[in-house]
Amino acid sequence: MSILTIMPSGKTVEVGEGTTLLAAILGAEVALNHKCDGKADCGTCHIFVHEGRKGLTRIAREENDKLDSIVGVGSKSRLACQAKVLGTENIKIELLGFV
Ligand code: FES
Repeated sequence: MSILTIMPSGKTVEVGEGTTLLAAILGAEVALNHKCDGKADCGTCHIFVHEGRKGLTRIAREENDKLDSIVGVGSKSRLACQAKVLGTENIKIELLGFV
């Protein structure tokens, strides 16, 4: 179990191991675009992870390829639909898009 803090609202939720950040965000009733429904294809679920990066699954090739094509990507970037919580660390993320 990890505590996920969702900025800019600062809302916090408990997230179980194996849950994607996208599922956790939507489960917390916070809106986030996810046009391809979690297939690493649209890039609309791009977020920044400010704390707890090691508490998430590593970036796989599909996610890396999509991130490469998004404007504004930085070292904290992840696709919320691809990053799964490992349950080892608390995580703080920032939503970037407008819904
Ligand atoms: S929902 Fe499309 S890339 Fe995450």
